[in-house]
Amino acid sequence: MKITVNEKSYNIEKVLTLLDALYKIKSTQDSNLTYDAGCRSGVCGCCSVKVNGKEQLACEYEPQDGDKIEPIKYYPIKKDLLVDKSSGYNLISKERAYLKLYQESTLEKTDESKTQIQTDCILCSSCYSACPVLEVDKNFLGPFALTRAYRYTADRRVANEKEIVDNIQKSAIWDCTLCGECTLACPMGIDPKADILQLRNLSAKHGYMDPNLSNMGFGGGFGFDPNGGF
Ligand code: SF4
Ligand code: SF4
Ligand code: FES
Repeated sequence: MKITVNEKSYNIEKVLTLLDALYKIKSTQDSNLTYDAGCRSGVCGCCSVKVNGKEQLACEYEPQDGDKIEPIKYYPIKKDLLVDKSSGYNLISKERAYLKLYQESTLEKTDESKTQIQTDCILCSSCYSACPVLEVDKNFLGPFALTRAYRYTADRRVANEKEIVDNIQKSAIWDCTLCGECTLACPMGIDPKADILQLRNLSAKHGYMDPNLSNMGFGGGFGFDPNGGF
């Protein structure tokens, strides 16, 4: 079976996962081949790559003959499939989407279920790589950072909800096209698009509105002239 890594072809025997294939290639054919890996079991999020244009975890994907492997998008490439994800991790601190101010609160089972799936995020950046908005706006916070923002605003123990909401207005929730590519790309079954919709609702409760609507004249009385004959 033949797979291609960044235009370079390798013949390999059938193996269970793409990560096994990369290890095999490195040990027998190309010691310079560089990629990232850690847990080998879908937990650490290190090994995300693009296979035939779609984001996959190399340790979970079963390689097929003819597969084309590339690094995930929007991060500086260090070498081959290895990218520098630090700019993505910095996005989380940019929106202050972490427990900064704590308030005492008793959690019910329903509170847990509100944030359970988002808590499973392994920061693999597959959703980030799949997002078309980043193609045109490098400052866009992107799906996993916004899922993290939702996770903390939905937690009753977090007292800095307003601060998080304030920080996701610009180049963030209102710039998402709701295409759902992030949701399709996530190996953990997280739905960043739904989380962004939740954050839009929460923002409205804090008095924010979609700036695209206000630019179209929907901000003050829906643009109607009150003396216009109605
Ligand atoms: S739904 Fe929004 S965040 Fe997700 S990929 Fe589409 S534009 Fe990006
Ligand atoms: S939301 Fe899903 S795809 Fe995005 S970083 Fe987290 S685990 Fe990866
Ligand atoms: S090596 Fe950890 S998720 Fe693949």
